Amino acid sequence: MDARPHARREGAPLTASGPLAGPIVVSAQGLVKTYPNGTAALAPVDLDIADGEFLTLLGPSGCGKTTLLNLVAGLIEPTQGAIAWWGEPRPPGANAPHRLAYVFQSPTLMPWASVTANVRLPLTLAGEPDARADVAVAASLELVGLEAFGDRYPRELSGGMQMRASIARALVTRPTLLLMDEPFGALDEFTRARLDDELLELWRSRALTIVFVTHSIAEAVYLSTRIVVMGPRPGRILEEVGVNAPQRGDRWRASPAFAALCADVLALVRNAGQAEVPRGKARVPA
Ligand SMILES: Nc1ncnc2c1ncn2[C@@H]1O[C@H](COP(=O)(O)OP(=O)(O)OP(=O)(O)O)[C@@H](O)[C@H]1O
Ligand SMILES: [Mg+2]
Repeated sequence: MDARPHARREGAPLTASGPLAGPIVVSAQGLVKTYPNGTAALAPVDLDIADGEFLTLLGPSGCGKTTLLNLVAGLIEPTQGAIAWWGEPRPPGANAPHRLAYVFQSPTLMPWASVTANVRLPLTLAGEPDARADVAVAASLELVGLEAFGDRYPRELSGGMQMRASIARALVTRPTLLLMDEPFGALDEFTRARLDDELLELWRSRALTIVFVTHSIAEAVYLSTRIVVMGPRPGRILEEVGVNAPQRGDRWRASPAFAALCADVLALVRNAGQAEVPRGKARVPA
């Protein structure tokens, strides 16, 4: 087992405005996950996630991204190691001051229920009174631009709109930590680019901390304040790249610094599939 500690390229995680000073939201120490069938999905992984980060997990299929996200979500237990949420040993409950929400790769909407009923589900499960739930559902639908579609059924929505409904359902509990596992992977490039921008707007306006999984290097470089590159057999963190983009948007996407960083991250991901991982040279734009 390769227990070589991963390289942290930029020290503290970075935001558009500089190093993050925020408190640690999730702290994972020595996380190991071996599934009951013997699959070693994660070698020891150490990962601290700071408040306000947009952190992306990137790496080849099977390197443990979903496993790590599920551990951070508290959906599965580590075989070894410890994880803390806002300093507590258990993930927060529905009515805790800090909350987390999970957006899966497919929208996972209930086909027999309207968009409103789907978005309302987490509040119903949490026993939220009707009047407060009505207000929260309406606000959440508005956030994702679906305020006119509450009475529709999922089959009446496009793929992008279904994913927006899924994001509205996640946001309805006003989470502070949003976990997203390849949420836009099944969408066309145009819709995906638009949802990327909408997500960035939500990240800013709701002061979210986001942990995002994608296979798209360009999407990772576009969205993230920090990219964690993982490698397989067993899944582990190989590299971390801070992305200090002056501003996200079309100018960032079209800039030479963006293209250079994509090329560097591509080299890291390619190396991630190999047994011995030479350290690449990721540039971090000023
Ligand atoms: N419930 C499970 N039981 C047994 N093995 C599993 C289970 N879930 C995942 N694995 C295995 O653990 C390893 C990591 O899987 P994981 O789904 O975390 O990878 P991933 O990086 O998310 O892959 P992808 O990019 O294809 O989604 C893989 O070898 C996978 O086959
Ligand atoms: Mg996965």
